[in-house]
Amino acid sequence: AQTLGALGLRHGLQIGTAVSADALNDTADPEYRKIAASEFVSVTAENAMKWESLEPTRGSYDWEAADQLVNFAKRNRQSVRGHVLVWHNQLPQWLTEGVADGSISKQELRELLRKHITTVVKRYKGKIWQWDVVNEAVSDPWDTPPTLHYKGFWAENLGPGYIADAFRWARAADPRALLFYNDYNIEAFGSGNPADDKTQFVYDMVKRLRAQGVPIDGVGAQGHLGTQYGNFNTFQVTEALKKFTSLGVATAFTEVDVRSQMTEAVQAGNSEEINPRLQASAANHSVLMKACLLVRSCLSYTVWGFSDKHSWVPGWFDDPPEGLATIMDENYQPKLAYHEIKSDLILA
Ligand code: G3I
Repeated sequence: AQTLGALGLRHGLQIGTAVSADALNDTADPEYRKIAASEFVSVTAENAMKWESLEPTRGSYDWEAADQLVNFAKRNRQSVRGHVLVWHNQLPQWLTEGVADGSISKQELRELLRKHITTVVKRYKGKIWQWDVVNEAVSDPWDTPPTLHYKGFWAENLGPGYIADAFRWARAADPRALLFYNDYNIEAFGSGNPADDKTQFVYDMVKRLRAQGVPIDGVGAQGHLGTQYGNFNTFQVTEALKKFTSLGVATAFTEVDVRSQMTEAVQAGNSEEINPRLQASAANHSVLMKACLLVRSCLSYTVWGFSDKHSWVPGWFDDPPEGLATIMDENYQPKLAYHEIKSDLILA
């Protein structure tokens, strides 16, 4: 049978997955490595390239897990999406604490960021296809204040100018890598008002950055969806991809998964409860996949883990519990979503 990866390549589309370093190293779980290597043509480090993983102690980098993934990709002739250079989460404690207690000044912080980006991008120069340079810089309507704004550690400490800086530093360190802005809830436009429509806010931001000559090559829509939330159709998603494309950037789906509420009946294995969720998950995947196939600029479709055995969802959403987010069950059996995106690739 054809793999997702091989079918995607027929359309010039790379199908990838996030890879967990723990799972990759689990000697009792060879199936994980086998599927990660065979089914996908692109991989993303789920955590191994985040700053807290790379520089747990100030001044000493630990490249082991990140190198391992890059070598895994090389062995399996896969491309690597680098994730992530600048994010407000999973920062090393020495950094956040140093800023909080004033021992790291704003000026020093900016210099630390420049050094970090330069160090990481140079180490993997020529080995990374797409870098998520800046991740999740924009607030959500449920944040305070509700008017959309630049949020988080970097905006608070350096102001929004860090975004342009980060892209420039990344470009200087590896002129060939495609440099992406990556975010969630930007799969479709809403009101069109940047005060409450995050897609519009990001669109305006990218437009401004491009006009200023900032080297941003792509916009990644993460694609963390849920079966019980408001969903999109293919028209809405293609419209968003096309609008971003009109700014001169590539697009990609970078972290797709579709989570469901794990009611007691679901946990007890009640198929009347489970099957609608599997159907809705497949439908959501299919919307994104079809949109990606319909818009030339959409370079890759990456799932955020491929098995429910290794998914961030249950650890993150526990009240009420959510799960069933990936395209294979805990025993690596393909779910409906897997078959659905496969048929989208075959029929496209
Ligand atoms: O490293 C420690 C380990 O030492 C410890 O034993 C273990 C016990 O809980 O925790 C480990 O850290 C966890 C880490 O994943 C590595 O497994 C953290 O607690 C946990 O919070 C962290 O979660 C990650 C999350 O980002 C944190 O921000 C998820 O795995 C990862 O899938 C998720 O990925 C993000 C993308 O980077 C950006 N977009 C959203 C996406 C989902 O949140």
